[in-house]
Amino acid sequence: MPDGFGRHMLAEWTLDPSVTYLNHGTVGAPPRRVLDAQQKLRTEIERQPSRFLLRELVDIGVGIAPPERPRLRAAAGEVAEFLGVSGKDLVFVDNATSGVNAVLRSFDFREGDEVVIPNHAYGAVKNAAEYAVRVHEARLRTVEFPEPVRSPESIVEAIDEAITPKTRMVLVDHITADSALVLPVAEIASRCRKRGVAVLVDGAHAPGAIPVDIAALGVDWYAGNLHKWAWSPRSSGILWTNPTRQLSMHHTVISWGLDQGIAAEFDWPGTRDPTPHLCAPVGIAYMRELGVEKVQRYNHELAWNGGRKMAARWESSLDTPEEMIGTMISVALPEKLGSTHEDSLALRQTLLFEHNIEVHMYSWKGRMHVRISAQIYNDMNDVEKLIGAVVSLE
Ligand SMILES: Cc1ncc(COP(=O)(O)O)c(C=O)c1O
Repeated sequence: MPDGFGRHMLAEWTLDPSVTYLNHGTVGAPPRRVLDAQQKLRTEIERQPSRFLLRELVDIGVGIAPPERPRLRAAAGEVAEFLGVSGKDLVFVDNATSGVNAVLRSFDFREGDEVVIPNHAYGAVKNAAEYAVRVHEARLRTVEFPEPVRSPESIVEAIDEAITPKTRMVLVDHITADSALVLPVAEIASRCRKRGVAVLVDGAHAPGAIPVDIAALGVDWYAGNLHKWAWSPRSSGILWTNPTRQLSMHHTVISWGLDQGIAAEFDWPGTRDPTPHLCAPVGIAYMRELGVEKVQRYNHELAWNGGRKMAARWESSLDTPEEMIGTMISVALPEKLGSTHEDSLALRQTLLFEHNIEVHMYSWKGRMHVRISAQIYNDMNDVEKLIGAVVSLE
């Protein structure tokens, strides 16, 4: 057991040690032991695929008597416990995008209805919402967050002000994608409840990164990823649905479980590889072994202190309060390096190919930003390396 975190933890991952990997949040990176468990499970499946997939995995009984304790339900129960909810209300999906799509496509939108979505929303999720409302002649209302964001209260107020009598749903991130802000979901949901508006949370970055107690948030649906910060193999997402909303929920892929409840609908969207979901408890168990609180604190402190260091060296302002930072932080890059989306793509390539640094970059309101992810295999040397590389390019 390591007595601290940092570069030596790379031995627990399969990541290329020659690359400074500051991009954990984008597609995740499962620890070695999770991948080993997945391989073992795959080998077990392939000894008798039909038995495993049709008789042990799920209880929709593809023409066969259902197992007593389906493996997928057992895994869902363990993940649900980690997220503060009951396993019967939680299903696995491939990723957060799939979870959000399932909710949007199941919701009974009427002509003229509105969905409120932040201007910081993830592009693919915004597209999913755009499509879902379009087919019902409903509309999206984009709420502009204050610029810069200086407090969680300002977000609660901005969303509250965007709600109109036509608003049926607020689709809000738990942690925003590019700007990496932890949003005050419980407070937002409390306002929405008072106004009869449903809340769908895009929690793509939250499970594993920050403490997540879905039940305490008071929301209607929570879609999230386990393959980013909860150390599951890809593709592993979850969708929690409030019991009051389950009757109308459907997977976007209709299969054998139609109208038999969310577990039946989501546990078998056709034949697929179940190992990413079945190995989710292995990632959680590893984090528990290291100490969930300890892991999250280390990652948060590295992100926060790293962000402050970058801002100081590049003379950028950092207005975000620490309470809105999880395990990622975004900082404006020196203006001399460019401002457009194309500039950010070019700089990202340069950092990767000339400096062996993998990090997320984007352009926002005419300014290039870098978003670092902090994972226990990173330490401040990684951030220093990024700072030095950027300074050398100025
Ligand atoms: C806020 C947010 N939502 C959704 C997603 C999509 O995640 P996935 O591609 O795993 O569905 C991301 C990906 O980074 C994200 O940042």
